[in-house]
Amino acid sequence: MPLVAANWKMNPNDAGDALDLVRGVLSVARGHADRVEVAIFPPFPWLLSISEVLAESGVKLGAQDCFWETSGAYTGEVSPAMLKGWCDWVIIGHSERRIVLGETDEMVAKKTVAALGCDMGVIMCVGDRIEQYEAGSSDQVVEAQVTAGLANCSADDSARLVIAYEPVWAIGTGKSADPEHAYRTMRLIRRVVGDLIGAGAAKKVRVLYGGSVNSSNVESFVELPLCDGVLVGGASLDAAEFAHIVKVTAEVYGHR
Ligand code: PGA
Repeated sequence: MPLVAANWKMNPNDAGDALDLVRGVLSVARGHADRVEVAIFPPFPWLLSISEVLAESGVKLGAQDCFWETSGAYTGEVSPAMLKGWCDWVIIGHSERRIVLGETDEMVAKKTVAALGCDMGVIMCVGDRIEQYEAGSSDQVVEAQVTAGLANCSADDSARLVIAYEPVWAIGTGKSADPEHAYRTMRLIRRVVGDLIGAGAAKKVRVLYGGSVNSSNVESFVELPLCDGVLVGGASLDAAEFAHIVKVTAEVYGHR
């Protein structure tokens, strides 16, 4: 089933606005739950109240990050054990964490295996920067990130593993990647995952596109043969816009 994920990032600032936003997408998301898996990734402080709104809806909840240790003296960190049970998913290695907070491939690998070990699904993000894209080294960058990020994973993790290709130059810029480029990179990701955990298991790993996805361009990505859905940032903060993205995805996959 395709996955449409809403990465709210550090928004909204108000608890009431967060609840309004999730209620605004709930009926459409629930109505398509048999054809599209929808997952909402709010900031940590809103997770609990949103989990109550989403209960029994079939719409999934996720965190935007987690730490790799279970507990201990790690001021400010949130462990996967704390999220387990009420978060279905966690995003690991988003480029904003890699670039702004200095998260390394090694940290991504440790967080990924820790979250999987707590029975959560992981959306591991990979992506090239503009200078790498312009230098023609996107493939090497993405291959290295996938290889390092999955260092501790095995075929057993495949059903709960998602890799999102998010070119850094497409995130929040309004300039999404050319679908042909996205397709070639998602094909590369699948090949690399196959080399790492076996081709059979790699088929179960879902591969998403992310970067300036909106209701007008979503079809051009979800109709790509190897695309299993989208990771949506800015457009997920508008309930009507995000609901439309879910609807289009359901229609496209319904025709496959
Ligand atoms: P964007 O963000 O849709 O605002 O480009 C995507 C993301 O960062 O996951």
